Amino acid sequence: MTQTTAKKILLNAFDMNCVGHINHGLWTHPRDQSHRFNELNYWTELAQTLEQGLFDGLFLADITGVYDVYQNGIELTLKESIQLPSHDPSTLISAMALVTQNLSFGVTVNLSYEQPYQFARRFASLDHLTQGRLGWNIVTGYLDSAERLIGQKGLKDHDARYDQAEEFLQLCYQYWEGSWENDALKKDKQQRVFTDPNKVHLINHQGQYYQSQGVFQVAPSVQRTPTLFQAGASPKGLQFATRHAECIFIGGDQPEKIRQQVN
Ligand SMILES: Cc1cc2nc3c(=O)[nH]c(=O)nc-3n(C[C@H](O)[C@H](O)[C@H](O)COP(=O)(O)O)c2cc1C
Repeated sequence: MTQTTAKKILLNAFDMNCVGHINHGLWTHPRDQSHRFNELNYWTELAQTLEQGLFDGLFLADITGVYDVYQNGIELTLKESIQLPSHDPSTLISAMALVTQNLSFGVTVNLSYEQPYQFARRFASLDHLTQGRLGWNIVTGYLDSAERLIGQKGLKDHDARYDQAEEFLQLCYQYWEGSWENDALKKDKQQRVFTDPNKVHLINHQGQYYQSQGVFQVAPSVQRTPTLFQAGASPKGLQFATRHAECIFIGGDQPEKIRQQVN
């Protein structure tokens, strides 16, 4: 069979719920509006602009914690607004989904500071509200300041973070894929059956990092499991990324280097 399909490029905008993602200092430009990042209009306007420009997605980076290593403090971080202040990216999604039809949303969440059940429920709810336009960028963190903020002594060992991430994902898959059958929801007013009890199943997970027993609270969303992004670069991170992610961040300055990574 001859291959006639043209290659398709998906365009993804890259931003963060703060003044400057990685384009530090740009906020001082006279036309820059990023100081308005705490206004919903700022984001709905951006989403509409992207959709008009035929972008496929808006990807939102995020960190838990602050940059406090340079000169042993946060003075420059605050002065230059280097990802501080920064707000929770998932709070923006419903509003942007409302004013767009096709734009998708990639949201970064650091799983080290989440409970799998609460996280899976929040993302399943957002997948419903966006009608399946949701992605999760899986990160495990790299800041000691985050650990102190949540009362821990320091970052877990790098590879142990990926082990925990593996179990977190396995548990999320059980919630998203394993608890509800596709046709569980009946919404039958005559028979007074909203959900068929025979089609909702208990999950039971006894793992190294997490335990969970019960049914998932959210009926299947369009995607069930949101589109998964990952950016692991270490051997362990690459293993994790290739096992789970549908979209993997890679970088390189030559096609040959990129090809090696893709292979
Ligand atoms: C394009 C790109 C985006 C990333 N976005 C985030 C992010 O938003 N938040 C975060 O904590 N880490 C982010 N990371 C860091 C990755 O999650 C990961 O820690 C890093 O790529 C190193 O991988 P490794 O831990 O396997 O060595 C990003 C990495 C890349 C390349």
